[in-house]
Amino acid sequence: MRAHLPSRKVIAVLTAALLASGMAACGNSDTGDSGGKGDDGKITLGFSQVGAESAWRTANTTSVKESAAAAGIDLKFDDAQQKQENQIKAIRNFIQQKVDVIAFSPVVESGWDTVLKEAKDAKIPVILTDRAVDSADKSLYKTFLGSDFVKEGRSAGEWLVEKEKAATGPVNIVELQGTTGSAPANDRKKGFAEAIAANPNLKIIASQSGDFTRAGGKQVMEQFLKANPKIDVLFAHNDDMGLGALEAITAAGKVPGKDITIITVDAVKDGMQALADGRFNFIAECSPLLGPQLMDLVKKVHNGEEVPARIETQETTFTQEQAKEALPNRKY
Ligand code: AHR
Repeated sequence: MRAHLPSRKVIAVLTAALLASGMAACGNSDTGDSGGKGDDGKITLGFSQVGAESAWRTANTTSVKESAAAAGIDLKFDDAQQKQENQIKAIRNFIQQKVDVIAFSPVVESGWDTVLKEAKDAKIPVILTDRAVDSADKSLYKTFLGSDFVKEGRSAGEWLVEKEKAATGPVNIVELQGTTGSAPANDRKKGFAEAIAANPNLKIIASQSGDFTRAGGKQVMEQFLKANPKIDVLFAHNDDMGLGALEAITAAGKVPGKDITIITVDAVKDGMQALADGRFNFIAECSPLLGPQLMDLVKKVHNGEEVPARIETQETTFTQEQAKEALPNRKY
């Protein structure tokens, strides 16, 4: 049988492909100290996102992607679907790919030391964005960029203390917590509890995680309503859970914002709309627009510049009247 030899054209294409892959391999090993720029001269950023659990998260992802493009940074984006094991896998992949900088928003606070040590050993600087970790060794990451979640919980609690200052009997509060073990869930709970301690009438009668999702908020609120005949206040750790809870409250024949006072965190558009409409009563803002500051930090740590250990986002709070004013210009 006569063997078919590849045509000249095919050989030329194969040779070009082999040369290109060889050059890419050389490029990577040339920058084997992991601090070098990619072959196109751009900084490569590996970013591991929590997931897409809320409107806040979607706005945060958009901010990161748009800012990376605007800053000329080559972004490798990974969605961990709210699983720590996926984030650890993504970070290990980034290390293997020798990215220049790694940034991530840790789904939970604990359990990062091993993988952060691997990044440090590979000389890849790590930036924590949005959420913090509880690692005792602060040298495992360069900086943290995000919100003061304790302050957000405290602002929510202080507003309630003022609203209920004339209460003469118990004010029953139910709490929809964020993802169990996450920094915003731990810290918002803490800040809120500290603030409401100022008024002994304010009592948290039930507290459970709704995982920062609308579906979770609705489902847990249904349980709260079944188990507790008198609920005066809902504190939801984010707008999405509060919006889910609205459905459960309405289905139970109660008027949200009137029969039950609703306090949330984030101030995304749908949350602000609910506040302006009188279905929510107060929101502590948490800004997802971290992209531009993050890209600035990526460039600095890549250049070996000193950066502050912690950079906090500027945030405010909204009453119903303030929401009506702010809503038309709300970006997310
Ligand atoms: O870490 C920030 C929190 O995560 C936001 O409040 C919430 O909406 C998101 O899912």
